[in-house]
Amino acid sequence: MIHAEPKKYMGVGQVTLAQIAEWKQIDSQDMFGAIQTMPMQLQQGYELALGARQEIAELLGGSLPRAVVVCGMGGSGVAGDLVSAMLDLEIPVIPVKGYELPAWVNREDVVVCVSYSGNTSETIACFTEASDRSRVVAVISTGGKLSELAAAASVPTVQIPSGYQPRAACGILTGALCGVLESAEVVSSAADAIRGAVNGAARSVNDVIEVDDVSTCHAFELAKGLQGRCSLVYGTGITAPVAARWKAQLNENAKVPAFANEYPELNHNELVGWELAGTVGGPWGLIELLPSDCREGIERRVEVTGSLIENSVDWHRGVRAFNPSGGEPVASDYSRAHQVFELLVLGDYVSVLLAYLNQVDPTPVERIHLLKDKLGAL
Ligand code: PA5
Repeated sequence: MIHAEPKKYMGVGQVTLAQIAEWKQIDSQDMFGAIQTMPMQLQQGYELALGARQEIAELLGGSLPRAVVVCGMGGSGVAGDLVSAMLDLEIPVIPVKGYELPAWVNREDVVVCVSYSGNTSETIACFTEASDRSRVVAVISTGGKLSELAAAASVPTVQIPSGYQPRAACGILTGALCGVLESAEVVSSAADAIRGAVNGAARSVNDVIEVDDVSTCHAFELAKGLQGRCSLVYGTGITAPVAARWKAQLNENAKVPAFANEYPELNHNELVGWELAGTVGGPWGLIELLPSDCREGIERRVEVTGSLIENSVDWHRGVRAFNPSGGEPVASDYSRAHQVFELLVLGDYVSVLLAYLNQVDPTPVERIHLLKDKLGAL
């Protein structure tokens, strides 16, 4: 087997916007620019979903379901992971990533199907199953087969704009899901959370686009740290789904293996796995995403874990979310959503800058399309 020569390490010195512009030539569909639209997307998705408020409310007939199941895969499914971290929910919102609904789902529950293309077979299978034994209360999509099925079954569809990669439409998809949940009265209002998410996303966008020397921005420092290393991203509480998003973005944009885990669970297994880490692979790069304030037990776990694994990890950074309340511990959905989208957008930039450092185009996900082609309608 012939192995390609490793790409030359780039960008150790000053990295100006001109340098980034040159690297961006590799970015065929401007994934870098798409990140900048995230604040606008959140608001747009939310407003689009509120347009379907009456239809959704009518379907529910004034009763609160037992649970909401959000079906979606990959870049679309992430919205289902994020909403529980962002919103003060009245009932459980459970993400489902696969062909089947859990056995407990019945007509006491409602299902929301999210697929950017509308042609994802797993999500279509869940729609069909939910139509038989539960209630589909909304579809979020640009079109495709899923929208056709929804129209035939008189299920409200939040029609979102096409033209993005699904993962680059995370703001619209998440904003729309927040709007659907508000319309279903699963949250009294998602407006504060959307405002927080918009501001959090804008904070990370500004950190990148307002500097003349990109090597001074946090995202670039983190991308450089991960370059040439096997990436691990840890989160806890509201940052756990963000760590999973970082992992997926590093996979799809930077084309590298990456893994996510969360505190405190990782203390009960992965901590031990670090013992022989050096013998099975690496070098290892670890980023820990922390909320602006975590309970004392978590703070201590992060500290002690760091000291136990320091000899196994080759590069390690902790990233703490900004506290928008100016230092006071806050649990409001404004603050939580702010932190979630601030860290999420930072990760999006890290993954695209790492793609540039790796000299790969962030947009194409050829292997996903190849797999889908080979599977056909399966
Ligand atoms: O990023 C991607 O392109 C994928 O993760 C897709 O989101 C995933 O394959 C599901 O497709 P869709 O979002 O169209 O339902």
